[in-house]
Amino acid sequence: MDFVGSHILSVDQFGREDVERLFAVADDMRIYADRARITRVLQGAILSNMFFEPSTRTRISFGCAFNLLGGDVRETTELKASSLAKGESLYDTARVLSGYSDIIVMRHPEAGSVAEFAAASRVPVINAGDGPNEHPSQALLDLYTILKEMESRGRGIDGLRIALVGDLKYGRAVHSLCKLLGMYDNIHYKLTSPIGLGAPAEMIEGLKARGHEVREYDQLEPGIHNVDILYVTRTQEERFPTQEDADRYRGLFRLNNAIYTENCEPNTVIMHPLPRDSRTEARELDDDLFQNPNLAIFRQTDNGVLIRMALFALVLDVAQNVHNHAQPVTWYTARRFTKV
Ligand code: NCD
Repeated sequence: MDFVGSHILSVDQFGREDVERLFAVADDMRIYADRARITRVLQGAILSNMFFEPSTRTRISFGCAFNLLGGDVRETTELKASSLAKGESLYDTARVLSGYSDIIVMRHPEAGSVAEFAAASRVPVINAGDGPNEHPSQALLDLYTILKEMESRGRGIDGLRIALVGDLKYGRAVHSLCKLLGMYDNIHYKLTSPIGLGAPAEMIEGLKARGHEVREYDQLEPGIHNVDILYVTRTQEERFPTQEDADRYRGLFRLNNAIYTENCEPNTVIMHPLPRDSRTEARELDDDLFQNPNLAIFRQTDNGVLIRMALFALVLDVAQNVHNHAQPVTWYTARRFTKV
Protein backbone atom coordinates (compact mmCIF):
# COMPACT_ATOMS: atom_id res chain seq x y z
CA MET A 1 0.00 0.00 0.00
CA ASP A 2 1.12 3.59 -0.58
CA PHE A 3 0.75 5.40 2.73
CA VAL A 4 1.46 8.87 1.36
CA GLY A 5 -1.74 10.90 1.15
CA SER A 6 -3.95 7.87 1.89
CA HIS A 7 -7.04 7.79 4.05
CA ILE A 8 -6.74 5.17 6.80
CA LEU A 9 -10.27 3.80 7.09
CA SER A 10 -10.10 0.04 7.57
CA VAL A 11 -7.58 -2.66 8.48
CA ASP A 12 -8.46 -4.26 5.14
CA GLN A 13 -6.08 -1.75 3.54
CA PHE A 14 -3.04 -3.34 5.21
CA GLY A 15 -0.92 -6.27 4.12
CA ARG A 16 1.83 -7.86 6.19
CA GLU A 17 4.60 -5.75 4.61
CA ASP A 18 2.63 -2.55 5.30
CA VAL A 19 2.27 -3.49 8.94
CA GLU A 20 5.99 -4.33 9.15
CA ARG A 21 6.85 -0.96 7.64
CA LEU A 22 4.54 0.86 10.04
CA PHE A 23 5.97 -1.02 13.02
CA ALA A 24 9.56 -0.21 11.99
CA VAL A 25 8.65 3.50 11.94
CA ALA A 26 6.84 3.10 15.28
CA ASP A 27 10.03 1.61 16.80
CA ASP A 28 11.88 4.70 15.57
CA MET A 29 9.42 6.97 17.38
CA ARG A 30 10.19 5.54 20.80
CA ILE A 31 12.94 8.05 21.62
CA TYR A 32 10.50 10.92 21.12
CA ALA A 33 7.66 9.31 23.04
CA ASP A 34 10.24 8.57 25.75
CA ARG A 35 11.28 12.26 25.79
CA ALA A 36 14.89 11.31 25.04
CA ARG A 37 14.82 13.66 22.00
CA ILE A 38 12.34 16.06 20.38
CA THR A 39 11.64 16.50 16.67
CA ARG A 40 9.93 19.35 14.77
CA VAL A 41 9.47 17.50 11.48
CA LEU A 42 5.78 18.51 11.23
CA GLN A 43 6.31 22.12 12.30
CA GLY A 44 3.58 24.22 10.68
CA ALA A 45 1.24 21.28 9.98
CA ILE A 46 -2.29 21.26 11.43
CA LEU A 47 -4.29 18.24 12.56
CA SER A 48 -8.07 18.57 12.98
CA ASN A 49 -8.97 16.08 15.67
CA MET A 50 -12.74 15.60 15.37
CA PHE A 51 -14.33 13.41 18.03
CA PHE A 52 -18.10 13.14 17.84
CA GLU A 53 -18.21 10.36 20.47
CA PRO A 54 -16.60 10.09 23.92
CA SER A 55 -12.87 9.35 23.94
CA THR A 56 -9.92 9.79 26.27
CA ARG A 57 -6.91 7.84 25.04
CA THR A 58 -7.59 7.77 21.30
CA ARG A 59 -8.22 11.52 21.12
CA ILE A 60 -5.38 12.58 23.41
CA SER A 61 -2.86 10.12 21.98
CA PHE A 62 -3.58 11.20 18.38
CA GLY A 63 -3.14 14.81 19.53
CA CYS A 64 0.07 14.05 21.48
CA ALA A 65 1.46 12.04 18.57
CA PHE A 66 0.99 15.03 16.25
CA ASN A 67 2.47 17.42 18.83
CA LEU A 68 5.45 15.11 19.38
CA LEU A 69 6.21 15.43 15.65
CA GLY A 70 6.07 19.22 16.00
CA GLY A 71 2.58 19.84 14.54
CA ASP A 72 -0.39 21.76 15.94
CA VAL A 73 -3.79 20.32 16.87
CA ARG A 74 -7.30 21.83 16.57
CA GLU A 75 -10.03 19.89 18.27
CA THR A 76 -13.80 19.46 18.39
CA THR A 77 -15.11 17.04 20.94
CA GLU A 78 -18.89 17.00 20.67
CA LEU A 79 -21.47 16.73 17.94
CA LYS A 80 -23.44 19.50 19.57
CA ALA A 81 -20.41 21.82 19.52
CA SER A 82 -20.09 21.47 15.72
CA SER A 83 -22.32 22.54 12.85
CA LEU A 84 -23.31 18.91 12.30
CA ALA A 85 -25.80 19.71 15.08
CA LYS A 86 -27.29 22.44 12.84
CA GLY A 87 -27.98 19.91 10.11
CA GLU A 88 -24.76 20.37 8.16
CA SER A 89 -23.87 17.32 6.06
CA LEU A 90 -20.70 15.27 6.46
CA TYR A 91 -19.88 16.33 2.89
CA ASP A 92 -19.93 20.05 3.66
CA THR A 93 -18.10 19.59 6.96
CA ALA A 94 -15.38 17.64 5.18
CA ARG A 95 -15.00 20.24 2.42
CA VAL A 96 -14.69 22.99 5.01
CA LEU A 97 -12.37 21.31 7.52
CA SER A 98 -10.05 19.99 4.85
CA GLY A 99 -9.44 23.62 3.86
CA TYR A 100 -8.15 24.30 7.37
CA SER A 101 -5.97 21.27 8.02
CA ASP A 102 -3.26 19.00 6.63
CA ILE A 103 -4.82 15.85 8.03
CA ILE A 104 -8.03 14.95 9.89
CA VAL A 105 -8.72 12.30 12.53
CA MET A 106 -12.37 11.55 13.02
CA ARG A 107 -14.58 9.48 15.34
CA HIS A 108 -18.32 9.32 14.71
CA PRO A 109 -21.17 7.14 16.04
CA GLU A 110 -22.32 5.79 12.64
CA ALA A 111 -20.74 2.91 10.73
CA GLY A 112 -19.45 4.15 7.38
CA SER A 113 -19.57 7.84 8.37
CA VAL A 114 -15.81 8.37 8.36
CA ALA A 115 -15.50 6.85 4.87
CA GLU A 116 -18.30 9.14 3.66
CA PHE A 117 -16.49 12.10 5.21
CA ALA A 118 -13.16 11.04 3.69
CA ALA A 119 -14.68 10.84 0.20
CA ALA A 120 -15.37 14.58 0.38
CA SER A 121 -12.14 15.58 2.12
CA ARG A 122 -9.25 17.24 0.32
CA VAL A 123 -6.73 15.94 2.89
CA PRO A 124 -6.09 12.46 4.37
CA VAL A 125 -8.57 11.23 6.98
CA ILE A 126 -7.85 8.64 9.70
CA ASN A 127 -10.77 6.67 11.13
CA ALA A 128 -10.66 6.83 14.94
CA GLY A 129 -13.78 4.64 15.26
CA ASP A 130 -16.99 4.67 13.19
CA GLY A 131 -19.77 3.30 15.36
CA PRO A 132 -19.55 -0.48 15.82
CA ASN A 133 -17.70 -0.91 12.54
CA GLU A 134 -13.91 -0.38 12.69
CA HIS A 135 -11.12 1.15 14.75
CA PRO A 136 -7.99 0.57 12.65
CA SER A 137 -5.42 2.50 14.74
CA GLN A 138 -6.50 0.56 17.85
CA ALA A 139 -6.07 -2.74 16.02
CA LEU A 140 -2.63 -1.68 14.80
CA LEU A 141 -1.48 -0.73 18.31
CA ASP A 142 -2.95 -3.96 19.66
CA LEU A 143 -1.13 -6.00 17.03
CA TYR A 144 2.10 -4.10 17.75
CA THR A 145 1.66 -4.86 21.46
CA ILE A 146 0.95 -8.54 20.75
CA LEU A 147 4.09 -8.73 18.62
CA LYS A 148 6.26 -7.16 21.36
CA GLU A 149 4.79 -9.40 24.05
CA MET A 150 5.25 -12.53 21.93
CA GLU A 151 8.79 -11.55 20.92
CA SER A 152 9.67 -11.18 24.60
CA ARG A 153 8.57 -14.84 24.93
CA GLY A 154 10.65 -15.91 21.90
CA ARG A 155 7.62 -16.21 19.62
CA GLY A 156 5.98 -14.51 16.63
CA ILE A 157 2.37 -14.05 15.55
CA ASP A 158 1.84 -17.01 13.22
CA GLY A 159 0.14 -19.79 15.17
CA LEU A 160 -1.11 -17.35 17.85
CA ARG A 161 -3.84 -18.53 20.24
CA ILE A 162 -6.08 -15.64 21.27
CA ALA A 163 -9.29 -15.38 23.30
CA LEU A 164 -11.49 -12.34 22.70
CA VAL A 165 -13.86 -11.88 25.60
CA GLY A 166 -16.96 -9.75 26.17
CA ASP A 167 -19.06 -7.71 23.77
CA LEU A 168 -17.97 -9.06 20.40
CA LYS A 169 -21.11 -7.82 18.69
CA TYR A 170 -20.62 -4.07 19.04
CA GLY A 171 -16.88 -3.95 19.86
CA ARG A 172 -15.21 -2.26 16.89
CA ALA A 173 -11.74 -2.75 18.41
CA VAL A 174 -12.34 -6.52 18.33
CA HIS A 175 -13.71 -6.42 14.78
CA SER A 176 -10.63 -4.64 13.47
CA LEU A 177 -8.15 -6.72 15.49
CA CYS A 178 -9.67 -10.06 14.40
CA LYS A 179 -9.52 -9.05 10.74
CA LEU A 180 -5.97 -7.73 11.05
CA LEU A 181 -4.72 -10.91 12.75
CA GLY A 182 -6.43 -12.86 9.97
CA MET A 183 -3.64 -11.98 7.54
CA TYR A 184 -1.19 -14.09 9.57
CA ASP A 185 -1.09 -17.90 9.39
CA ASN A 186 -2.93 -20.42 11.49
CA ILE A 187 -4.50 -18.20 14.16
CA HIS A 188 -6.62 -19.92 16.83
CA TYR A 189 -9.48 -17.66 17.87
CA LYS A 190 -11.61 -18.29 20.94
CA LEU A 191 -14.60 -15.96 20.75
CA THR A 192 -16.06 -15.79 24.24
CA SER A 193 -19.18 -13.70 24.78
CA PRO A 194 -22.51 -13.84 26.60
CA ILE A 195 -25.35 -15.20 24.47
CA GLY A 196 -26.59 -12.34 22.28
CA LEU A 197 -23.24 -10.54 22.09
CA GLY A 198 -21.45 -12.86 19.66
CA ALA A 199 -19.19 -11.68 16.85
CA PRO A 200 -20.79 -10.91 13.45
CA ALA A 201 -21.31 -14.10 11.41
CA GLU A 202 -19.63 -12.67 8.31
CA MET A 203 -16.48 -11.90 10.30
CA ILE A 204 -16.32 -15.48 11.60
CA GLU A 205 -16.92 -16.90 8.12
CA GLY A 206 -14.17 -14.67 6.71
CA LEU A 207 -11.65 -15.94 9.28
CA LYS A 208 -12.60 -19.58 8.69
CA ALA A 209 -12.36 -19.10 4.94
CA ARG A 210 -8.74 -18.02 5.43
CA GLY A 211 -8.04 -21.31 7.20
CA HIS A 212 -8.05 -20.12 10.81
CA GLU A 213 -9.60 -22.04 13.69
CA VAL A 214 -12.54 -20.21 15.27
CA ARG A 215 -14.36 -21.54 18.33
CA GLU A 216 -17.22 -19.80 20.12
CA TYR A 217 -17.96 -19.99 23.87
CA ASP A 218 -20.77 -18.53 25.96
CA GLN A 219 -19.07 -19.20 29.32
CA LEU A 220 -16.00 -17.32 30.51
CA GLU A 221 -13.84 -20.08 31.98
CA PRO A 222 -13.72 -22.63 29.13
CA GLY A 223 -13.34 -19.68 26.76
CA ILE A 224 -10.00 -18.56 28.21
CA HIS A 225 -8.06 -21.84 28.49
CA ASN A 226 -4.88 -22.49 26.46
CA VAL A 227 -4.30 -19.05 24.97
CA ASP A 228 -1.30 -16.75 24.50
CA ILE A 229 -3.41 -13.58 24.54
CA LEU A 230 -6.54 -12.83 26.53
CA TYR A 231 -8.22 -9.71 25.09
CA VAL A 232 -11.03 -8.50 27.35
CA THR A 233 -13.58 -5.85 26.31
CA ARG A 234 -16.22 -3.65 27.89
CA THR A 235 -19.93 -4.03 27.11
CA GLN A 236 -20.54 -1.21 24.62
CA GLU A 237 -23.63 0.00 26.49
CA GLU A 238 -24.02 3.12 24.35
CA ARG A 239 -24.75 0.95 21.28
CA PHE A 240 -27.68 -1.01 22.75
CA PRO A 241 -31.22 -0.09 21.66
CA THR A 242 -32.24 0.61 25.29
CA GLN A 243 -30.47 0.85 28.64
CA GLU A 244 -32.46 -2.17 29.91
CA ASP A 245 -31.00 -4.25 27.09
CA ALA A 246 -27.51 -3.23 28.16
CA ASP A 247 -28.17 -3.75 31.90
CA ARG A 248 -28.79 -7.48 31.35
CA TYR A 249 -25.14 -8.00 30.41
CA ARG A 250 -23.45 -5.90 33.10
CA GLY A 251 -21.05 -7.95 35.22
CA LEU A 252 -21.71 -11.28 33.48
CA PHE A 253 -18.05 -11.92 32.58
CA ARG A 254 -15.45 -10.78 35.09
CA LEU A 255 -11.78 -11.63 34.94
CA ASN A 256 -9.96 -11.43 38.25
CA ASN A 257 -6.75 -12.86 39.65
CA ALA A 258 -8.35 -16.05 40.95
CA ILE A 259 -10.08 -16.88 37.64
CA TYR A 260 -6.91 -16.03 35.71
CA THR A 261 -4.70 -18.20 37.91
CA GLU A 262 -7.06 -21.13 37.74
CA ASN A 263 -7.74 -21.06 33.98
CA CYS A 264 -4.84 -19.40 32.15
CA GLU A 265 -1.29 -20.39 31.38
CA PRO A 266 1.33 -18.64 33.56
CA ASN A 267 2.46 -16.52 30.58
CA THR A 268 -0.93 -15.55 29.13
CA VAL A 269 -0.91 -11.84 28.25
CA ILE A 270 -3.92 -9.81 29.44
CA MET A 271 -5.06 -7.00 27.13
CA HIS A 272 -8.00 -4.58 26.98
CA PRO A 273 -8.53 -1.62 24.61
CA LEU A 274 -9.77 0.41 27.59
CA PRO A 275 -11.74 2.06 29.05
CA ARG A 276 -12.62 -0.81 31.37
CA ASP A 277 -15.86 -0.44 33.26
CA SER A 278 -14.71 -0.10 36.88
CA ARG A 279 -18.18 0.25 38.41
CA THR A 280 -18.57 -2.35 41.16
CA GLU A 281 -21.37 -4.12 39.32
CA ALA A 282 -19.38 -4.35 36.04
CA ARG A 283 -15.59 -4.89 36.52
CA GLU A 284 -14.86 -7.04 33.47
CA LEU A 285 -11.15 -6.70 34.38
CA ASP A 286 -10.49 -6.52 38.10
CA ASP A 287 -7.93 -4.25 39.81
CA ASP A 288 -6.51 -7.28 41.64
CA LEU A 289 -4.64 -8.08 38.39
CA PHE A 290 -2.51 -4.93 38.77
CA GLN A 291 0.47 -6.84 40.15
CA ASN A 292 0.41 -9.39 37.34
CA PRO A 293 3.38 -8.75 35.01
CA ASN A 294 1.35 -10.18 32.11
CA LEU A 295 -1.12 -7.30 32.37
CA ALA A 296 -0.24 -5.32 29.22
CA ILE A 297 -3.02 -2.70 29.25
CA PHE A 298 -0.77 0.28 29.92
CA ARG A 299 1.85 -0.98 27.49
CA GLN A 300 -0.97 -0.92 24.92
CA THR A 301 -1.86 2.70 25.72
CA ASP A 302 1.79 3.78 25.52
CA ASN A 303 2.23 1.94 22.23
CA GLY A 304 -0.76 3.89 20.87
CA VAL A 305 1.38 7.04 20.71
CA LEU A 306 4.11 5.25 18.69
CA ILE A 307 1.63 3.80 16.21
CA ARG A 308 -0.20 7.11 15.73
CA MET A 309 3.10 8.97 15.24
CA ALA A 310 4.09 6.36 12.66
CA LEU A 311 0.76 6.74 10.81
CA PHE A 312 1.17 10.52 10.63
CA ALA A 313 4.82 10.24 9.57
CA LEU A 314 4.02 7.80 6.75
CA VAL A 315 0.82 9.44 5.50
CA LEU A 316 2.44 12.90 5.51
CA ASP A 317 5.66 11.48 4.03
CA VAL A 318 8.18 12.59 6.66
CA ALA A 319 9.18 9.19 8.07
CA GLN A 320 12.66 9.43 6.53
CA ASN A 321 13.22 12.97 7.89
CA VAL A 322 12.12 12.63 11.51
CA HIS A 323 15.63 12.27 12.94
CA ASN A 324 17.01 15.19 10.87
CA HIS A 325 14.96 17.53 13.01
CA ALA A 326 15.82 15.96 16.35
CA GLN A 327 17.09 18.02 19.27
CA PRO A 328 17.90 17.29 22.89
CA VAL A 329 15.18 17.61 25.51
CA THR A 330 15.90 20.59 27.74
CA TRP A 331 13.48 20.07 30.63
CA TYR A 332 13.41 17.61 33.51
CA THR A 333 11.69 14.45 32.34
CA ALA A 334 11.01 11.22 34.16
CA ARG A 335 11.46 8.25 31.84
CA ARG A 336 7.86 7.46 31.17
CA PHE A 337 7.54 4.71 28.60
CA THR A 338 6.57 1.18 29.63
CA LYS A 339 8.21 -1.74 27.82
CA VAL A 340 7.74 -5.46 28.17
C1 NCD B 1 -12.52 1.49 22.38
C2 NCD B 1 -13.46 2.19 21.41
O1 NCD B 1 -13.72 3.40 21.53
O2 NCD B 1 -13.89 1.50 20.51
N1 NCD B 1 -11.79 2.40 23.13
C3 NCD B 1 -10.64 2.92 22.60
O3 NCD B 1 -10.64 3.59 21.59
N2 NCD B 1 -9.49 2.60 23.23
C4 NCD B 1 -13.19 0.47 23.20
C5 NCD B 1 -14.34 0.86 24.08
O4 NCD B 1 -14.82 1.99 24.07
O5 NCD B 1 -14.77 -0.02 24.83
